[in-house]
Amino acid sequence: MQNNYTYQGALEASERIGWRVEDIIGGDKQLNFTKPFMPESLAQVRKLSFLTASEQRKLNQIRGHEYLSMFGLVEEFILPYVVDHARSQLSGDNYRVRALLQFAGEEAKHIHLFKRFREEFETGFGSKCDFIGPAEDVKRFVLSHSPLGVAIAILHIEWMTLRHYIEGVKDNQDLDPLFKSLLKHHWLEESQHTKLDTLIVEALAEAATEKEIDQAFQEYADIGGFLDNGIKQQTEFDIESFINAAGRNLSKSEREAMTGAVLKGMRWTYLGTGMTHANFLATVEQISPEGKKQIEAMARLFC
Ligand SMILES: [Fe+2]
Ligand SMILES: [Fe+2]
Repeated sequence: MQNNYTYQGALEASERIGWRVEDIIGGDKQLNFTKPFMPESLAQVRKLSFLTASEQRKLNQIRGHEYLSMFGLVEEFILPYVVDHARSQLSGDNYRVRALLQFAGEEAKHIHLFKRFREEFETGFGSKCDFIGPAEDVKRFVLSHSPLGVAIAILHIEWMTLRHYIEGVKDNQDLDPLFKSLLKHHWLEESQHTKLDTLIVEALAEAATEKEIDQAFQEYADIGGFLDNGIKQQTEFDIESFINAAGRNLSKSEREAMTGAVLKGMRWTYLGTGMTHANFLATVEQISPEGKKQIEAMARLFC
């Protein structure tokens, strides 16, 4: 395989980075609702020129709440997946066992972190924002697929998280500093998860038959389709949340324009940025050049 990722290297990086939820949020560390939370490359609200600047910011923050909720949702299935995978690897390479358990521990911490941010958001935003779920149903659906199919989906999620921070947040001076700090701390640990999940995908693919690999790519597409259905439903929730928060109605054409922009923004955020990530595609190409082509064709719908 064409990378130099190791369990030991990922573990050592992770131990150097380690942060606590309590150091990031709480006390005087509060969200600043006069600032946007999401980079425009993901939020995609500025094209809605019929909104005032303050309304655009509200919609941006609603997309921030949706981001917190979406990660809460996906990490609820990543955690049991990694725990199950670690459990089957408890003997053998000591670094592998420790790195996988560290990976699981970090995802449990991220679930906690995203929950804390949602609580802060709900306290300060001033009106309710709905979100799809429940997480239990999503987890059941995703984990009903083969380990390789799910590992490919998780690899997509890890790489897309890195891309969100590096391309949209790192050098962005407009965002709320606390929301930016959340994205930075998440990125710091996800950087190791991309490597660990690449190693997991490679190991599972090596032990799989050609038929199992084809099936795993079909499952990845099914999980993507399931997520896209959730995105369509969440688009409606975001728009209703906006109407509540802004205290104004939308004309038919305004609603259509907002639906188009939010749907496009969400699809790019959660599907396109992962499916077109060069490192994600490099790993899937090594497993199946045909699988890579299928993903590239699928990605056109989400970019
Ligand atoms: Fe995470
Ligand atoms: Fe992760």
